[in-house]
Amino acid sequence: MDLKKKLIKLLEFRRELGEDYLIMPSWNEPEKVPVDKKATSREKVEFKSGVTGKADMKIEENENANNQAKSALEKHYQEIKDCQLCPLHETRHKFVYGIGNPQADLMFIGEAPGKDEDLRGVPFVGAAGGLFDKILKVVELSRDEIYIANILKCRPPKNRDPLPSEVSKCIPYLNRQIEIIKPRIICALGRVAAQNLLDTNLPLGRLRGEIHFFNRIPLVVTYHPAALLRNSNFKKPAWEDFKWIKQLCDNPGQITPYQPEPPKKLSLGL
Ligand code: URA
Repeated sequence: MDLKKKLIKLLEFRRELGEDYLIMPSWNEPEKVPVDKKATSREKVEFKSGVTGKADMKIEENENANNQAKSALEKHYQEIKDCQLCPLHETRHKFVYGIGNPQADLMFIGEAPGKDEDLRGVPFVGAAGGLFDKILKVVELSRDEIYIANILKCRPPKNRDPLPSEVSKCIPYLNRQIEIIKPRIICALGRVAAQNLLDTNLPLGRLRGEIHFFNRIPLVVTYHPAALLRNSNFKKPAWEDFKWIKQLCDNPGQITPYQPEPPKKLSLGL
């Protein structure tokens, strides 16, 4: 696809998400200081010409930390991939561990693998995953810089909600992943993920916009991408949530709640 068509598609998607205006960057924007790509997620390292040594050390430290986290996740995966702690192992095709940057600042947590994820062993690769990828793209996040996992590692039959007995067996696996990755922010995608992580029965509408905590890590809540596919009234408020989440990631020193927009009232067409 050529650049013009790509740009048109992107703008159309933003409009679909409810963005009816476009802010153009100022032509006088200050020149960006090149930042080492690997270092952006943990520690920003500025490279000034002629300065080596300290910066090089930081890159090396960062690479070591990244390799350590990667191997810890791999070891953990090997330990649990044949899990038989709950009956879901009998019907699963693949164990869906999680994917992404082993040192991600932002970790998304969904509910459980669906049909496509169960077949491929990767979270969010079905229709909801496609929409999720598009949203990530517009907020300029890529799967390489985030980490994605689910409350459950195995697909519940017919995508029913996870049972408390399944969650209690599986959540220690997620806890370990969080312990290794050490995200700065966790985003729960949808009611099931949010309620299980926060141990609450509050509805999603009451959980959005707030800064919650999971094991002392700030946790925010937004819609599950599948909910956006089912009801397009959720798209605009979800888009606002994602812009806020991106802002929190870009300014980790300023973790503040925002007043989320409720979705438009559903029209029953009566
Ligand atoms: N829905 C989820 O909650 N997780 C997935 O991985 C896919 C769909």
